[in-house]
Parts: sequence; C-alpha cells; structure tokens
Amino acid sequence: MIPRPRKMRFTEGTAAKDVPVKEEICAGLGTEEYRISITPGLIQLEGSGDAGLFYARTTLEQLRMIHGEELPCMEIEDRPAYAYRSFQIDCARHYFSVEELKKMIRMSAEFKLNHFHWHISDDQGWRIECKRYPKLHEIGSVRAGDHFGGCCSDERSGGYYSRDEVRDIVDYCGKLGIEVVPEVDMPGHVLAILAAYPELSCLGEPVEVGMKAGIFKELFCAGREETFVFVENLLDDLLELFPGKYFHIGGDEAPKERWNHCPRCQKRIEEEGLKNGQELQGYFCNRISSYLLSKGRIPIVWNEAVYGGNLDKEVVVQLWTEDKDNQIQAHLNKGGTAILAMVENCYCDYPYGMHSLKDMYSLKADPAKLGECGEDSVLGAECLVWTEFIRENERLEELCWPRFAALAEVGWCGADCPAYEDFRGRLEALFGLFEKNGIHATEIEGWDPDEETAARQAEQFRMNFSEEDREESMKVQADI
Ligand code: ACM
Ligand code: ZN
Repeated sequence: MIPRPRKMRFTEGTAAKDVPVKEEICAGLGTEEYRISITPGLIQLEGSGDAGLFYARTTLEQLRMIHGEELPCMEIEDRPAYAYRSFQIDCARHYFSVEELKKMIRMSAEFKLNHFHWHISDDQGWRIECKRYPKLHEIGSVRAGDHFGGCCSDERSGGYYSRDEVRDIVDYCGKLGIEVVPEVDMPGHVLAILAAYPELSCLGEPVEVGMKAGIFKELFCAGREETFVFVENLLDDLLELFPGKYFHIGGDEAPKERWNHCPRCQKRIEEEGLKNGQELQGYFCNRISSYLLSKGRIPIVWNEAVYGGNLDKEVVVQLWTEDKDNQIQAHLNKGGTAILAMVENCYCDYPYGMHSLKDMYSLKADPAKLGECGEDSVLGAECLVWTEFIRENERLEELCWPRFAALAEVGWCGADCPAYEDFRGRLEALFGLFEKNGIHATEIEGWDPDEETAARQAEQFRMNFSEEDREESMKVQADI
C-alpha cells in the first residue's frame, strides 16, 4: 500500500468479498487517523470523522487491488506524520481543463495527499474569473504567443476558470479530503495582472502578458497605496471562492531593480524605517499577510520572502531553495513553520533523469537547516509541477506520476519512511491504480534512469534555455 500504514499486523484467516463492511465514528482518534480491522466475519473501519473514514476506505480499496477477492485478516492503525501533504499544479504557464485537473486531484487523493496548491497567476497568465477586477480574466488570461523553450508560436492562447468551475473544483476536492490552496504570486511574477492594470507597477507603463519563461523586472509598486487596496479587494473576491485555511501569496523571484529606482518605493522605505528592497518585500508580505490573518486565513510564501529578516512568524514559509544569511533558520527560530519543497527533490517539471523518483522519495527535513525547533517546524511537504514546457495532458501526467506518489508517502510517514526499495516494490504492485484512473504514468524503466539516459534527458531539458536566457537569469538571481 502507498502510503504504507504506520502499524499493520496480520491475524488469522481471510475475509471473503461479501463480508460486511461497517463504518464507525470513534471520537478518540485524531482528525486524519483511522483504524481497520479485518476478521473472517467483518471488516470494521474507524475514524473520528469524514477524513479518517475516507482514508480507511482508500486503504481498503488498495488492499482489494493487491489481494483480490479474499483479504487476509489484519489490524491497521494509521495516521499521517505531517498535516500538510500537498501537490502543486501551475495552470498559469499553461491552462489545463477542469476535467484534467479533476483526474490529477482524484489520483492524488488515492495517495492521501490533502492540499491542492493551485498556481493561478503568473507572468504568463491570470486564470480565474474575477468579479471585482474583470480585466484580469478578460486581458490577463490571454497571451499573444507561446515562446517557452524551443516553442515559437504567435497564436493567441489562454483560458480561465469561471467562478462556477472554481466552486466545482473546490467542492470536488472537499469530497476527497483535499483543501485547495490558491496562489496569487506577488510582488513579482505579476505581468499578467499588470497587463490588465498597469497603474499598479512602479513605472505605470503598459506591459504585455508574458510569452517567455523567466524572471521579469516588473513588480507591484510597494510605494503606492492603490496596490494594497487592489490586492485586498482581489483577495476578498477570491476568499469567497476558496474557503480553506491557507492562502499562498508567492513572494519568489522578485528582483529589486524597479523598487530601487522608484521614488514611491524609496519613500516607503524611508517612512517605514526599512533598510532596503529586501526589507520592503518583508513589509509588503506582512501587510498582505496581516489582511489574510484578519480574515482567519494563514498566509504561505516562498522562501525568498524571509530574506529581509522582517517577515512575521505567522507566515508559513515554503522552502524550495537554499537559505541566505541563515534567514530561514532565523524565521523558524522565531516560531515560524515550513513546508518542504526543495527543487532537487520535489520539482516534477524536470525529467526523471534530473530529479528521479528516488530523489523525490529522499526528501528530508535537514536538521541543520531547520533551526532550534527542528522537525517541529515542519508543517509538511509538497510535490510540484511548473508548466512552461508542458502543453499536453499526457506529458503532465507522466512527469507527475509516480513522483507525486513518492511525496505522498514521505508526507504520510515522515521520519519513519520505509527504505526506497520497499516503496518501489509496493509501487509496482499498485501500478494498476494509474490505469484505473486513466493516468498516463511513467513506467518502471523510467523512474530512475541510468547515467547515460539521465545525461541525455538533462541535455534535452537544457535546450529549453538559450545562452542569453541563462546569462539573464544569473544576473537577475543576484538581485533577488
Ligand atoms: C519557484 O519555483 N519559483 C518557487
Ligand atoms: Zn514603486
């Protein structure tokens, strides 16, 4: 089974297919905890509520897939190590249909992932119908071409999810024990928003929805009050659609060049007693975060947002790159929490030859990086897929599966994760689950490619970036 149950003990006998299944609420169990007892005359599932019982049913289905008609008698006691077990899909770089998202969500639920991080806004597209600011979906959801990687198309393309479709996705997830965590990335990665509302940038000049991959200079102007009014109104509009506890406000890859030369941003720095652009980003994030907190939501940011050293401890930090000046540690030492999502383990947009199934399974909370509270700072873990170079559903699926399943087990078992070979064996036995769900998963030969194949895949992947792109990226990285 995947994730492997924490405690499992075989007992005497077998239970035939027609043995009755009884579900029972058991108040003493944790929210996601469940128990299964299989005896020759009865299969009993116990949970403290919907989540636990849903997981008990999911495990029972996997048992039936593995063992067929007759189940061996056993006792299972199971609960997750981490409360936050997440998968992210980038629908901004390329739009994926509601039907495709539901397939990915259904598959994730089979492995007990419980948060869908939905990346709905980036330089290259805004993807949600917005009542308050309709130009977001009218203008921000369409771009004049696709020049990601080797692609060179000047055909207009785009798409957005209607509010009813969003409600449908949120509801669908809810039935599968999954909370939707939307992400509106800011203050950077906002070209699509600025294409619709250019008055929110430092220069206030017209821009186009992005057509290339990369990091762009335009940010929300942190010196204009109108920016904060806009973001708060936008959040009100979105909070209506997303009832969950968490809300992701991005914060990655925001070069400070525009802020450094903007009189309004410089005035803000002076008036707020800040030292520089890094601290201004902390200020920006804190203002938006306190708005979310006032609405009862918990903000999440990418790790760059802590580099100013002034981020409020209530803001959850999603770790994807290395620490800078020990600022992540300092944030965690203040009592902050983290979601583990390191690029080299968790990013499924890279081919398996660069980030193998084993790499995903090897994700660990490094005690040296976590600060004084160690494991207690870890809220959970996430697998991700960015879609600059992914246009087709089949490609999306083969890159994510089975790597998402590996992360699901890491998030469920935490420090008690079985050995990788053990996981691989169980994954082979359960491969039919992908077919059952209509998912085009990567077959076993592709999970951990040999050196030669890995080198070929890495070379192919690098062809997505020109020499010029690489140089530009190095320059911009230094300014983040
Ligand atoms: C990220 O990959 N830019 C968070
Ligand atoms: Zn500015």
